[in-house]
Amino acid sequence: MTTVSSAEHTRRDFLYIATGAVGAVGAAAALVPLIAQMNPDASTIAAGAPIEVDLSPITEGQVIKVFWRGKPIFVGHRSKKEIAEARKVNVASLPDPQADEKRVKEGKDQWLVLIGICTHLGCIPLAHQGEYAGFFCPCHGSQYDTSGRIRSGPAPTNLPLPPYEFISDTKIRIG
Ligand code: FES
Repeated sequence: MTTVSSAEHTRRDFLYIATGAVGAVGAAAALVPLIAQMNPDASTIAAGAPIEVDLSPITEGQVIKVFWRGKPIFVGHRSKKEIAEARKVNVASLPDPQADEKRVKEGKDQWLVLIGICTHLGCIPLAHQGEYAGFFCPCHGSQYDTSGRIRSGPAPTNLPLPPYEFISDTKIRIG
C-alpha cells in the first residue's frame, strides 16, 4: 500500500484545526501568516525536515511507504511469524551479518522501518515477496528477508535504516 507523506497529513490536519480555532476567535486574517510560518513548506520537507508517521492504522502484516528526503521509507508492522523468521537465522551466515534485534527499536520488535532502496543499483523492492517473503527487488533479483537483510542476489548490503525514534507508542519521527 502506498500512502502520501504523513507530514502532509499532519500539515493538513493542523491547518484544518487551526482554521477552526481561528474562526472561533474571529482573527483569521492575523493568524494566517503565522500558520504559514509554523508549517514547513513542501520544499523544506523535501530538503530534509523530519516527518512523523502515525502507526496506529498500519495493521499487522502491512507495509506502508512514506517519503522522507525524497526517499521511499518502508514502515512494516511485522507479525510474530515474520519476527521469528528473521531471528531463527544464523547471523554469521548472512552476506551482511546483522542481528534482527539491532535493526528494530528495543521493545518494538514488530516495527520495521527501512529505506526502501535496493543496495544494488537503487530500484525499489517489493514487500512480502521473494524467497524469504521479505522484500524482493525485481531489477536483478535481490532477495531480502523480513528484517530487510540481503539474503541472495547481487545487492551487497542490507536495506539501510533511516534515523528515527518513537515519540509515542503509536508514532515515530523519521529524520
Ligand atoms: S537494483 Fe535491486 S537487484 Fe539490482
